[in-house]
Amino acid sequence: MTAEKIPVILDGDPGHDDAIAWTAAAAETRLRVLAVTSVAGNQTIEKTTLNAAKILTLTGMHVPLARGAARPLVAQPMTAPSVHGESGLDGPALPEPTVPVLDLPAVSLMAQVLADHPTPVTIVATGPLTNVATLLLIHPELKAKIGAIYFMGGGIRFGNWTAAAEFNILVDPEAAHIVFTSGLPLYMCGLDVTEQALLLPAEFDALAALGSDVANIVADWLRFFYSFHKEKGYRGAPVHDAAAVAALVSPALFSFREMAVQVECTGDHCRGATVADWYGLHGKAKNVHVAVAIDREAFVAWLFARVAGYGEAKR
Ligand code: RIB
Ligand code: CA
Repeated sequence: MTAEKIPVILDGDPGHDDAIAWTAAAAETRLRVLAVTSVAGNQTIEKTTLNAAKILTLTGMHVPLARGAARPLVAQPMTAPSVHGESGLDGPALPEPTVPVLDLPAVSLMAQVLADHPTPVTIVATGPLTNVATLLLIHPELKAKIGAIYFMGGGIRFGNWTAAAEFNILVDPEAAHIVFTSGLPLYMCGLDVTEQALLLPAEFDALAALGSDVANIVADWLRFFYSFHKEKGYRGAPVHDAAAVAALVSPALFSFREMAVQVECTGDHCRGATVADWYGLHGKAKNVHVAVAIDREAFVAWLFARVAGYGEAKR
């Protein structure tokens, strides 16, 4: 008997690693992608939405796509052109988008999908949590239709945008606080594992050697993404967002530790930090399953297998 596919909504700010995560998700037979929503983060909402349409077109993921929040709930907007370029997905040329952007706010599309689907739906969030928080604020009646939230964000040891904060959480700490206090099953793929979800330059070339147009584009996305990280001393490209997809479909690649995690929304030095109570010192409810280890080689093999799903080079 074949296992039921996991119904998911993909929400992100493509973004090279979002693009790779979505490309893997589109080729993941254990998932049924019901909808995709964009959010401002790596670039402006106009650019992340256009990139989303291009990724869906490239991967043949013909699912409803809607544009999300243009700015965080409270914080001033911030983007990451130094990492992802002016377009938010600099590097290889992509096909002109043919997947339409619905004339519907992302939160309305999310709500419609949750209401209509017969079983709970998992949200995979790989950008700032603005859309997810807004959904929870506007549609509390739909919380029961959210099976879990798997997200790339945070880190319990260090940040990557400030010393204490990871980019997705830092862009919208108030949104993250709403999600972290929602009481929903949360699976956090933070920097503790996503910086281990590295692809090495030799692996970029091995991916390209798979031969398909998609494989070559993924390799070029990695090469562009690595150009920023190489300057920072990384030995490879951390494919942060793909780890959140892998955690959902192949949890055995990870070790999780359930902990009480709070989002710091004030302070001069730690705003946006995800503060995890590793030893349970404060007796607070353990609200997050935090990924604390990853099998990098198995993760890379999983990603290769998904990209290989796009076949050989077109003859
Ligand atoms: O800190 C890494 C995260 O921020 C990734 O999701 C990347 O795409 C950016 O959104
Ligand atoms: Ca992202």
